[in-house]
Amino acid sequence: MLILGIETSCDETAAGIVENGRHIKSNVVSTQIDIHKKFGGVVPELASRAHTELISHVICEALEKANCKLSEIDAVAVTNSPGLANALLVGTETAKALSFSLGIPLIAVNHIHAHLYANFMEQSSIICPVVGLIISGGHTAVFYMENCNSYVLLGQTYDDAAGEALDKVAKMLNLGYPGGPGISKRAEKGSSKAINFPRAFLGKDIYNFSFSGMKTSVARHIERNFAGNSEDINDICAGFQQSVIDVLIKKIIGAAEQKNVETILIGGGVTANAELRKQLSEICKEKGVNLFSPSLKLCTDNAAMIAGLAYCRYKEKKFEDLTLDIYPQFRS
Ligand code: KG4
Ligand code: ZN
Repeated sequence: MLILGIETSCDETAAGIVENGRHIKSNVVSTQIDIHKKFGGVVPELASRAHTELISHVICEALEKANCKLSEIDAVAVTNSPGLANALLVGTETAKALSFSLGIPLIAVNHIHAHLYANFMEQSSIICPVVGLIISGGHTAVFYMENCNSYVLLGQTYDDAAGEALDKVAKMLNLGYPGGPGISKRAEKGSSKAINFPRAFLGKDIYNFSFSGMKTSVARHIERNFAGNSEDINDICAGFQQSVIDVLIKKIIGAAEQKNVETILIGGGVTANAELRKQLSEICKEKGVNLFSPSLKLCTDNAAMIAGLAYCRYKEKKFEDLTLDIYPQFRS
């Protein structure tokens, strides 16, 4: 069973071919970081234009790398939510055209769910139920999963996503875009105890997040106390990164305890953060909880995870017709 996945929800144009939901035959990602970095964030209109130019090439490359012909593809899957409206449209309309012309099923995939599903592609020992934490540039959310087709939302951010807050703090400090890797590199050289930024925990058994105030406290600190030297930047990065990590860890461990599950999955671009992985894996070991996180190539946006999750939907015959719409807002 070969599924072609297409992903154009934000600033990566991606196509991948996956066999039976797990075996990645190709995973091609064309990043638009160079287009957007001079603006310090994604410019939606530029993103959709770039997707339009790139999508056919990226699909052809995915077929070539998988050594497979279009006629061998059994179904086409696409991210139709959440994301930038015009960017999502490029992927969904391409997928509809392929589904119609090849006479194969069309499968809609939720990008956020696919980030969590990425764990199942690399690990065969995950036993549900589990709780999952999604930490990306656009979303931060906690889910309860009974299987790979069931994602019950336990909480999400009221304002900025964790990655968005890191990106905005990086912008304040001129650390480039996307900001997460820059913050993490600087944080390695700083002290996380030098500046104590506030943490918004919001209360016990609440799995929502609020990173906007935490980000603003960095802006206030910069206005009032920033001397502009490199050590200051390192300490701000280490302090802010730690405040974000503390909140993320408290929420997901709390959710695992409340739901009485033995396994935690994490996914999304911020999962690439080495310090978060280290601290979360230490606390999971202490508490006897299994922790799974995708390898780096499946943490950030890609289409293999879309084709992978589509296989679960294929097995339940969850197919779409050509009226398939896009949903820019996250719908659980
Ligand atoms: O999942 P993703 O690739 O795209 C979205 O769906 O949003 O996540 C992108 C986010 C960005 O905010 C980026 O700064 C963050 O992931 N990120 C990181 C790291 N690498 C990427 N954040 C912290 N540490 C990293 N090493
Ligand atoms: Zn993503």
